[in-house]
Amino acid sequence: MTEALPAIPARSLPVSAQAPGKCIVFGEHAVVHGAPELVFAIDLTTQAFVSPGTGMRLNSDGEALAHNAYFRASVETAWKDGPPVEVRTVSRIPKSAGLGSSAAFVACLTAAFSSATGGLDRAALAQRSFEVERGAQGVGSPGDTSTSVAGGFVSVNGGPGDVLWSVHAADQRWQVRRVTDPGWVWVVAYSGIPRSTADAVRAVGARLAAPGGPELLEEFRRVATDGIAAVERGDRASVAILVRRNHELLREVGVSHPRLEALIEAAAPAAEASKLTGAGAGGSIVSLPVPGKETELVRRLARAGALPFVVRPAPLGVSLVES
Ligand code: PMV
Repeated sequence: MTEALPAIPARSLPVSAQAPGKCIVFGEHAVVHGAPELVFAIDLTTQAFVSPGTGMRLNSDGEALAHNAYFRASVETAWKDGPPVEVRTVSRIPKSAGLGSSAAFVACLTAAFSSATGGLDRAALAQRSFEVERGAQGVGSPGDTSTSVAGGFVSVNGGPGDVLWSVHAADQRWQVRRVTDPGWVWVVAYSGIPRSTADAVRAVGARLAAPGGPELLEEFRRVATDGIAAVERGDRASVAILVRRNHELLREVGVSHPRLEALIEAAAPAAEASKLTGAGAGGSIVSLPVPGKETELVRRLARAGALPFVVRPAPLGVSLVES
């Protein structure tokens, strides 16, 4: 049966919405070029409160429209000609860490604006959130924003699950499907090194267009396809092998970092597998813990200088916070 995700209902201001961050298990970067990706929403969220104001302000900053591209793109796309509002945000997702802070910000703010302008179905919200993020970043796929909107596990351009929606750019289309959550606990760890998603995406794009690039993209595609199938059947041993292989490919296209390599090494005795997650070049890693060694894994990563979180998939995507 096709899963019907609830629409964002119409409300009048003040409106508040929250959205989860995300963790990419397979296929980051390659998804920008049409290959499959597997992502899940994590139980770290961002919440936005939108209330009537005297000027457009974000967390009391009256200049935010000028210097925050995500805020500007959200307003231009979902609050065009709207009255001045005061937006306040609270987030548990580290910024520029590869854990979906910008997608969660965009999804919850776009949901709140859309609610205050008559409501919106979820497929349209996924499209709108992608347009906002792409508008701000200039590059990228809809994987992050669709996961923040859908919650749970989702695949992009692969897998046998129900189609949730398609998202399109001028020259490209991605299909977003539901993937069954195998019920595992994961650990993500932020290296403390912020980086630009757009710069990493452009660098990988250049690498994939160079000699040997198409073969690498093909291997990314195979790993993600097999990985989605392994997650669907709850085959942890195969997932671990494919996670490691995916990291090798990401290293090969130049987006690992000595700190990420050190964290992966520190995690190894308590992890079945680890890889960088998100755009890389800094940012975070994700590990599949050896069952029963979750706390040891967290300790190892903290001792190695990272900010670790035990995460579970968040089954709910963006939602209004009704008061
Ligand atoms: O590092 P993040 O959270 O911005 O994730 C980027 C994921 C990429 O595949 C590298 C880009 C994208 O938009 O899909």
